[in-house]
Amino acid sequence: MILSETDVATRVVRWQAIHGRNHLPWQQTRDPYRVWLSEIMLQQTQVSTVLGYYARFLERFPDVSALASASLDEVMALWSGLGYYSRARNLHRCAQTVVSEHGGVFPRSAQVLATLPGIGRSTAGAIAAFCFAERTPILDANVRRVLTRVLGFDEDLAVARNERTLWAHAQALLPSADIDAAMPRYTQGLMDLGASLCMPRNPACPQCPLQTLCVAHRAGEPERYPVRTRKLKRRSESWWLMVLEDPAGKFWLSRRPSAGIWAGLYCVPIFPLRSDVSAFFDAAGRPSAKTMEERPPFLHVLTHRDLYLHPVIVRQYGETTPDDGGGWFTAEQIAGMGLPAPVRKLLAGL
Ligand code: ADE
Repeated sequence: MILSETDVATRVVRWQAIHGRNHLPWQQTRDPYRVWLSEIMLQQTQVSTVLGYYARFLERFPDVSALASASLDEVMALWSGLGYYSRARNLHRCAQTVVSEHGGVFPRSAQVLATLPGIGRSTAGAIAAFCFAERTPILDANVRRVLTRVLGFDEDLAVARNERTLWAHAQALLPSADIDAAMPRYTQGLMDLGASLCMPRNPACPQCPLQTLCVAHRAGEPERYPVRTRKLKRRSESWWLMVLEDPAGKFWLSRRPSAGIWAGLYCVPIFPLRSDVSAFFDAAGRPSAKTMEERPPFLHVLTHRDLYLHPVIVRQYGETTPDDGGGWFTAEQIAGMGLPAPVRKLLAGL
């Protein structure tokens, strides 16, 4: 490596103090419970959305034992709308593991943190650096972009060996002085650089503290990094959402299977084909044309999938109910249950 290690860390730390984010609620504490909660919420969700959820979560679950002793249903209900619901299930399992196997105290090293449910290597590094100033790296998508560009690291990250090499580089670049103050700030600084200047497209190189060191900038092609041959394969699917409303205004909901999209959430019956909806009504009793309304499909984007949701709304439905273990729920009950955000929105708009 041509880079001087101290240069990178020193510049990131100095830049973070002036230009980084320093007033977010989870930065005002070294309590690992709070930092962990924020890092999980921030994994796939932007800061502005997380703020409200974070405050509500802490109000209801002020510490890890409160979260561990809650029901999964209540956790899911509070998470509802944040998306990527496996995070909420892992959150609950993680809290229970901290209580049952670590005496209710979060482990203090990245290595042990990474053994807990839902905590990957980079999240473990972030918690250990923020709370305990451990000299340990992070490598989330933003930081991967910053470091591959600075280093001019153009090996294919789809190859596990190259990914490991990049982790070793990340370790080598860590601050080596004043660790207690530098580690949290350096870690946050890399995240902030990735989020504010070192963007996937049109990075703001002139404002970057690492510009004069950056191999990718010098070569004039920062956007070429990071290199990864296997791209996310996106699929597109259509789902028919059958909304049944009984004469009392209740909706039919059942619980989704424990694996897959919207796992464990309450949802209206879903059919992969329009003809499946017809087949259901052929068997259960056909609604009159007056009470049935088909809405135009709308798009819901997930990580690996574009879901086109086709609502079929049937009101005043008193015929045979689906055989899916579900039940009729009032709007008031639904408000306290965990539903996928687009389904909740659909029901609220009826
Ligand atoms: N995204 C992930 N971790 C974050 C943090 N600590 N601050 C802001 N955004 C983040």
